[in-house]
Amino acid sequence: MLLKSFFYKALNKVCTADITRVLFLDRRTFTRPEVGEEIVCRYLTKEDLETLASVNRFGINETFVKDFEKYRFLCIGATVNSEIVGIIFLGSGTIPARHNSGGPAYHGIGVEAPKGCFYLFKVDVLPEFRGRRVNPAMIAFAFESMRPSMLQSIVTTTDWTNEAFFKSASRLGFFQRGHAAEFVFAGTHLYHLPKAIDVANGKVRSYATDQDKDVIRFKGE
Ligand SMILES: CC(C)(COP(=O)(O)OP(=O)(O)OC[C@H]1O[C@@H](n2cnc3c(N)ncnc32)[C@H](O)[C@@H]1OP(=O)(O)O)[C@@H](O)C(=O)NCCC(=O)NCCS
Repeated sequence: MLLKSFFYKALNKVCTADITRVLFLDRRTFTRPEVGEEIVCRYLTKEDLETLASVNRFGINETFVKDFEKYRFLCIGATVNSEIVGIIFLGSGTIPARHNSGGPAYHGIGVEAPKGCFYLFKVDVLPEFRGRRVNPAMIAFAFESMRPSMLQSIVTTTDWTNEAFFKSASRLGFFQRGHAAEFVFAGTHLYHLPKAIDVANGKVRSYATDQDKDVIRFKGE
C-alpha cells in the first residue's frame, strides 16, 4: 500500500494519472453481508436527488440529476433513522465516460454494460458511518430487490489505492478483472483500456468484436 502511494505520487510528478482496478461480481460469488438492523435501504427518486443537490450532499448536482433521468440510472440510498447516510448509482447500457473519471483533469472511460449487468459508480458513505457495512448493505439491496433476469452481475472501477472500497467489495465477492488507466501528458489523454469481460462468467475475453453483445466494454473518449 505504501509502495503504491509512493509510486502514484512519483508518477503524478511526471504526468496526471488515474489508475483503477476493474472489479466484477455476479450472483454466483455474491456473499450476503451482515448488516445492522438500523440500516434501511431504498431506491432514491429524482426528488430525493434534487433535495441532496440542494444541500450539496454526496457531490450531487443538477447535471447529475439530469443524467440520472436521461440514462435511467438507478440510485440506492442507505438510511439510518430516515437520514440518507450512503448512496450508490447503477447504470446499464451506455454509461458516459464522465461517470467513470478520476476528476476534472480527466475525460474518463465510458462503459457499455449489456442487459443484466450494471456498472456501479458514485459510491459514497458519510464519514461518520464508514466501516458499518453501509456500502455492502446497498449492494446487497440491489441483488435482493431485482430479479436475476434484471440484475445478474455488477462491474465497477475503483482507484487502485482505495483499500477501504477494495476490502468492502472483496468481502461481497467482487473479483479483480484488470486495470484501467488514463494519463494526461501536456494536454494529451492516453488510455490503458481493460479487455472486454464476458458477462456470463466474468472472464476476461482476449478478443471481442463489435458484434459481441454479451460483453462489458470500456471506451476512451
Ligand atoms: C469506500 C466506502 C464506500 C466503503 O463503505 P463502508 O460502508 O464504510 O464499507 P465497509 O463497512 O464494508 O468497510 C470497508 C473498509 O473501510 C475501512 N473503514 C472502516 N472504518 C472507516 C472509516 N471510519 N473511514 C474510512 N474507512 C473506514 C475499513 O478498512 C473497512 O474494512 P474492515 O471493517 O474490514 O476493517 C466508504 O469508505 C466511502 O464512502 N469512502 C469515500 C468514497 C469512496 O471511496 N467511494 C468509493 C469509490 S469507488
